[in-house]
Amino acid sequence: MTTKARIAVFGANGTIGSRVVREALDRGHEVTAVVRDPKKLEDADPRVTVVTGDVLAPATVTEVARGVDVLVSAVGGGDGPGHVATVEPSVRSLVTGLRALGDAAPRLIAVGGAGSLRTPDGKQVWDAEGLPEGLLQIMHAHGDALDFLRTVTDVRWTSFSPAASIAPGARTGVYRTGGDELLTDGAGESRISTEDYAAALVDEIEEARHVGGRFTVAY
Ligand SMILES: NC(=O)c1ccc[n+]([C@@H]2O[C@H](COP(=O)([O-])OP(=O)(O)OC[C@H]3O[C@@H](n4cnc5c(N)ncnc54)[C@H](OP(=O)(O)O)[C@@H]3O)[C@@H](O)[C@H]2O)c1
Repeated sequence: MTTKARIAVFGANGTIGSRVVREALDRGHEVTAVVRDPKKLEDADPRVTVVTGDVLAPATVTEVARGVDVLVSAVGGGDGPGHVATVEPSVRSLVTGLRALGDAAPRLIAVGGAGSLRTPDGKQVWDAEGLPEGLLQIMHAHGDALDFLRTVTDVRWTSFSPAASIAPGARTGVYRTGGDELLTDGAGESRISTEDYAAALVDEIEEARHVGGRFTVAY
């Protein structure tokens, strides 16, 4: 898709979601930001339509998705139990809400996790020694969400795993994408700026290269 897309973003005020909103706007797309608390987007870019909604309510997902081309979910976040409790239930709610629209449902692009990516030793990122319990729970919640999505054949979904390390930084526009393997740079590090992650996500919106699968991005 190279024309202007209508995009709705759950988690639009979050670290990743806010970068996706900005990147999509900068490329001329039409963006609806979905937030639980609209006060958090009082200073939103005037080009954004702000609506209130909880991703865990399938009926809300259906309403938000009506007339949209691509639904992005960038929800979760923080160190608390709410993060783990949101990750897999949110993709189930998104799929249920999209199914209600049948053939008119938009594509779904869900921000995933790096934990399930495979490492050169034949293991997965979450098998590394010494990972904190809280982080492991989040990683496995994303793994469960991906396992669920892989059972879905009637909604056009994409799960997009960040590199192992993602943090706000520069938008370079230069990155590599891959499938189920962790991507690392010459120094053996797996990293991406949130800005470049957002650029790669909007590339996926425009090019639809990973419908029905998971992909990842890193330098
Ligand atoms: N390397 C990795 O694998 C990696 C690294 C970073 C992040 N991630 C994943 O990326 C996702 C986003 O992370 P982030 O750093 O951008 O988090 P964040 O800055 O904390 O933002 C999370 C967003 O989700 C929203 N949210 C939470 N529950 C919601 C619900 N029930 N309905 C609607 N919105 C809801 C929050 O809204 P409120 O402001 O209302 O709470 C917030 O906008 C998470 O799933 C995280 O696990 C993966």
